Amino acid sequence: MKQNIFKITAALVVTTVLLNSCGPKDNPPLVYFPDMYFPVAYDPLMKAEDAYSDHENEIPAFVKNGGATGMIPVNGTVMQNRDGVAESNSSAAMTPDQYNTGYDESKGVTASPLNAAKQAKDLERGKILYDRTCAACHGTAGDGQGPIVQSGAYTGVPKYADRQISVGSVHYVIMNGRNAMGSYAGQLNAGDRWRVSMYVMNAFKGGVSAGSAVASAANTAVTTDSTATKK
Ligand code: HEC
Repeated sequence: MKQNIFKITAALVVTTVLLNSCGPKDNPPLVYFPDMYFPVAYDPLMKAEDAYSDHENEIPAFVKNGGATGMIPVNGTVMQNRDGVAESNSSAAMTPDQYNTGYDESKGVTASPLNAAKQAKDLERGKILYDRTCAACHGTAGDGQGPIVQSGAYTGVPKYADRQISVGSVHYVIMNGRNAMGSYAGQLNAGDRWRVSMYVMNAFKGGVSAGSAVASAANTAVTTDSTATKK
């Protein structure tokens, strides 16, 4: 008898589970995890409301904020930017003239805004990032013979030795791209773009500050504490 009751119960449980587990989701008979059926789209700027009741949100910080959950940073919060390099606005569309003017000016920038005292470390990091981000085309030797080029899939990658570049212009090209090369600003953060630029100049152009013929007023764009020296 006991056995039978157990069997019947088991059969009922199994059928209940089976009947409930499939079928249309728009009107499930019993919802165990409602957020999975009715996901609550969350917008930090909208009024915070309890999804399943019309109960007002009473969390004081939200109430003070007009109900919105998106808060301004706590007073005294310091933005995380250890390099202290300002993120320039790269999303603005440029006309060809603006691009060329910026490019010409960037050639005069012969020092990165990074702390010169940490140059050895920056170059080390620059190499890692260069090998990861640029070497597929430019080659680890900077000769324009990366694996993509050697495979025949891509051409027109120059040797750095053949280009007249400066740390500023390499940075500019990383930011804005040039001809067949696209921008790599999205792959590298502000400080790392300079690290890679420094590495390119140091490893392939004989020194961080070498390679610039046009020293111009654009130098003032770089903070004064950075006196990048030849290695
Ligand atoms: C998809 C392949 C590809 C990748 C990846 C790539 N480049 Fe290039 N790069 C090119 C091509 C092609 C050119 C030639 C553009 C031209 O015609 O001036 C070029 C040109 C350059 C130049 C010379 C620009 C000048 O002023 O004459 C520099 C400097 C440069 N790249 C740096 C980099 C750095 C740094 C990275 C990594 C962040 C990188 N590239 C990643 C394809 C690539």
